[in-house]
Amino acid sequence: MEVAFLGLGSMGKAMAERLLTQGFALRVHNRTRTKEKSLVARGARPFATPRECVRGADVVVTMLSDADAVWSVLEGKDGALVTFAAEKRKPRAVLVDMSTIGREEACAIAKAVEASGARFVDAPVSGSVAPAADGKLLALVGGTMKSVERALPVLEALCRKILHAGPPGQGQALKVVLNGMGAHHLVALTSMLALGERAGLARDVVIDAFTSGAFATPSYVGKRAKLLAEDYTPEFSLALALKDVKLAAQLQDDVGLELPVARAVVREIEAGVREGLGGLDLFALEKRYRSRT
Ligand SMILES: NC(=O)c1ccc[n+]([C@@H]2O[C@H](COP(=O)([O-])OP(=O)(O)OC[C@H]3O[C@@H](n4cnc5c(N)ncnc54)[C@H](OP(=O)(O)O)[C@@H]3O)[C@@H](O)[C@H]2O)c1
Repeated sequence: MEVAFLGLGSMGKAMAERLLTQGFALRVHNRTRTKEKSLVARGARPFATPRECVRGADVVVTMLSDADAVWSVLEGKDGALVTFAAEKRKPRAVLVDMSTIGREEACAIAKAVEASGARFVDAPVSGSVAPAADGKLLALVGGTMKSVERALPVLEALCRKILHAGPPGQGQALKVVLNGMGAHHLVALTSMLALGERAGLARDVVIDAFTSGAFATPSYVGKRAKLLAEDYTPEFSLALALKDVKLAAQLQDDVGLELPVARAVVREIEAGVREGLGGLDLFALEKRYRSRT
């Protein structure tokens, strides 16, 4: 099976490497071309444009920052849609967008992709760089059964579990509510860590309690070493977390459900990004609370 992979950032690179180790023939493209190098050394074929990269591919995976980035690899004279349209008479390729972009944009992209003759599946993932490298992600999938079936070999190579949430866009809806819960956890952990330290508790003792007590979750436990070392090298940046909580706010607007605490979570993360923490790992939000009087 020939797979084209567009977007070799923190997650995309780890996922593309995983597909190579699982024996897929891989075509790759990244806006910043230097990021293709390590994959090419391991057997992937690099292409200068998305249009060339997706040619003849059975499955096309996109793993990009946001909806604008996904549109930018699809549209225009060098975009993937040109190739999908040109290959219309061949068996239809499936585009699996694994970026987190929200339901509204996923539905619009699904329309554009289907109109070009290819199939569309939204499959945003839960899990960070290490699970991506090990094929242990959780995929939250939206799409018709037929499209999802075509994407399955690739999804199964990348994921420990695949949840089919419904038609196109519903994978994104599930991802948005799941990440919304994670954002509440983030604000809870970072603010309570600051409170504990301000109350004179040793940092390692508080972190030990948080990562071994009744409220320990994989998202805290996985950050334990980084939190202890105050290492904020981004695995998932606070700026991306802001994008995700805004998607949750948008979903609230779309369905007419107002959740005040979720709105407060958006304001907290927004303030952290304004204070210059956006490029750091999301747990750097604790700096906002530490510096407060
Ligand atoms: N990191 C995580 O732990 C994690 C976990 C689950 C889901 N996600 C989601 O997965 C997606 C990717 O996250 P990431 O952490 O891999 O992000 P990242 O490291 O910032 O990588 C972003 C990728 O998008 C590309 N890109 C951005 N804007 C573009 C544009 N206008 N045109 C073309 N390419 C563009 C970047 O290209 P350049 O290299 O040229 O900048 C890069 O390949 C996001 O939607 C994120 O929310 C991330």
